[in-house]
Amino acid sequence: MTAAQLLTYISAAVLLQVLLAAAVTLWKRKNAVVPTRVDAPPVATKADSAWPGWRDFRVARRAWEDANQSQCSFYLEPVDGAALKPFKPGQFLTFSLPVSPQTTVTRCYSLSDAPHPQHFRITVKRAIAPDQTPAVAPGVASNYLHDHVQVGDVLQVRAPSGHFFLHADDPAPAVLIGGGIGITPMMSMLLWSLQTHPSRVLHLFYGVRNRADHAYKATLENLAQRQANVHLHVVYSRPGPADASGQDFQHTGHVDIHRIRQTLPHGRHVFYICGSAPMMENLVPALADWGVQRSDLHFEAFGPANVLLPGDAAAQTPGADAAPVEIHFADSGRTLEWQSSDGTLLDFAEQHGIAMASGCRAGGCGCCETRITHGEVRYDHAPDYDTAPGHCLPCVARPASASLGLSA
Ligand SMILES: Cc1cc2nc3c(=O)[nH]c(=O)nc-3n(C[C@H](O)[C@H](O)[C@H](O)COP(=O)(O)OP(=O)(O)OC[C@H]3O[C@@H](n4cnc5c(N)ncnc54)[C@H](O)[C@@H]3O)c2cc1C
Ligand code: FES
Repeated sequence: MTAAQLLTYISAAVLLQVLLAAAVTLWKRKNAVVPTRVDAPPVATKADSAWPGWRDFRVARRAWEDANQSQCSFYLEPVDGAALKPFKPGQFLTFSLPVSPQTTVTRCYSLSDAPHPQHFRITVKRAIAPDQTPAVAPGVASNYLHDHVQVGDVLQVRAPSGHFFLHADDPAPAVLIGGGIGITPMMSMLLWSLQTHPSRVLHLFYGVRNRADHAYKATLENLAQRQANVHLHVVYSRPGPADASGQDFQHTGHVDIHRIRQTLPHGRHVFYICGSAPMMENLVPALADWGVQRSDLHFEAFGPANVLLPGDAAAQTPGADAAPVEIHFADSGRTLEWQSSDGTLLDFAEQHGIAMASGCRAGGCGCCETRITHGEVRYDHAPDYDTAPGHCLPCVARPASASLGLSA
């Protein structure tokens, strides 16, 4: 064989290898399982939170916000006396609450006042047993706060967090919609906006049962009277016989798309919505159907809610016939089969007696953060809490690969 022939063979072999490698790469890309993983936008992350871990706060004051005394505000001052960094109005605090000598629970509560260097304010509604199952225990944390936490007591608190907050840089009128105790983040947004952008037009829709449950009543009415740019729309679902229409409340029924369309003037508005799961699941898609841009729709639920918007990853949720997924729980040494009807990874783990910490159960507090040992997860909606690399939030995550491993 001549040198020229040898060179030709070598060149051909190299070319063949390059072509083969390119083909394999292309094939791998085409067949790769692409998880529908939705990552939260990079704001208010753990890295830039005001303090790491838990910080002690003393209850400086308690105040009832409604005639029924079902909603109590707690003013909290840092025990270390250091000034508080401003938070973003709409964000929440996470609490570790020793509700009994044996049990500590974690819960989130929205900040309900404008940022203040000396104190935070939260407002907690007493959770009673649901009407249809009155025999079950009332809410653990809210009743503990109402009945046992007094002025002078110290609570452990994690720094403000959450991606649901008022965007100050947008001059468009803001529509704040609070259903029931979902009024708390709206109060923070409203009070802060009036301090920092006093002429921004604000519409507050507040859906509540009646005058007895009407929180912050005097404050809201004073603000609406004093400020021409504040438009108050209070909607009572069950007005009491003495409740005065036009005075205590403006509308009867619910805060729904018809009410909003009838009330708002023409033009672009930015919406901030917080309420019960049914309210959110109806109202948010209805606003999108009406033509409100996705970027003008901001919302948060205080618990699990399945708000579906056109184009959301949730639209791709596998049906009941989706293939089962094998999940290996490394710390418990168990491998179990997950079906799409089993719900979130936290629900699934709990159903099988596998211990996992939890707090908000809505992707907000980070309490359930768990390391992924192999495989992928997906979220129907971007969670509020930014996890460390290689970790997930089982309270809102479902498997997105044929097999998944978790350190639980
Ligand atoms: C981001 C965020 C912000 C929040 N902000 C606020 C806020 O500003 N103010 C506020 O008040 N809340 C807020 N919440 C809700 C709050 O975190 C708690 O979920 C709420 O206080 C209820 O907690 P709990 O421990 O009192 O009730 P839980 O003990 O968690 O019980 C909840 C409900 O379930 C019922 N229940 C108990 N056992 C059963 C059973 N076996 N079957 C059926 N039902 C049962 C209880 O009676 C109760 O009604 C927020 C939540 C999140 C995620
Ligand atoms: S329990 Fe709060 S993020 Fe999962």
